[in-house]
Amino acid sequence: MAYSEKLLDHFKHPRNVGTLNKEDKGVGTGLVGAPECGDVMRLQIQVDPVTQRITDAKFKTFGCGSAIASSSLATEWLKGKSVDEALAIDNMAIVEELALPPVKIHCSVLAEDAIKSAIKDYQEKNGLEVTATVAAH
Ligand code: FES
Ligand code: FES
Repeated sequence: MAYSEKLLDHFKHPRNVGTLNKEDKGVGTGLVGAPECGDVMRLQIQVDPVTQRITDAKFKTFGCGSAIASSSLATEWLKGKSVDEALAIDNMAIVEELALPPVKIHCSVLAEDAIKSAIKDYQEKNGLEVTATVAAH
C-alpha cells in the first residue's frame, strides 16, 4: 500500500507529542479508544480563558501510524483556533489531507473524537455550556 508523503512525514516526525498539566483549569484532556483495533489516543488542549482560543495542543497515541499522523496533524490544526472552530474539525478533512486509505479512516475518527472529548473536558471543568458531543463507541 502506498502512503502519502504527508502521512509518512507526520508518522516519522510527529508534531506536539507530549503532555500538558491535567490539573490546569485551562487544559482539556481527551482520552479515546478505537474498538476496531484497541488503539488509544490522548489529546490535550490549552485554552486561553480570555480569548477562548487554543494556545497549545499535545498528544500521545498508542496506536497505528495513521492514528499517530492523524493526531499529529490535529494538534497542528488546533493551535490558534477558537473552541468553536476546533469543534468543526471533521475527520474527513484529516483523511483528505493525509490521503488515508479507506481501511484507515477510523484512525482519523479517533482523532476527531479525541478533539471533541478534550473540548468537553475543558468545558465541564470550567462550568461552561458543553457544546462538544463525543460519538459513542
Ligand atoms: Fe474507529 Fe471509533 S475509532 S470507529
Ligand atoms: Fe487502530 Fe489506526 S488501526 S487507530
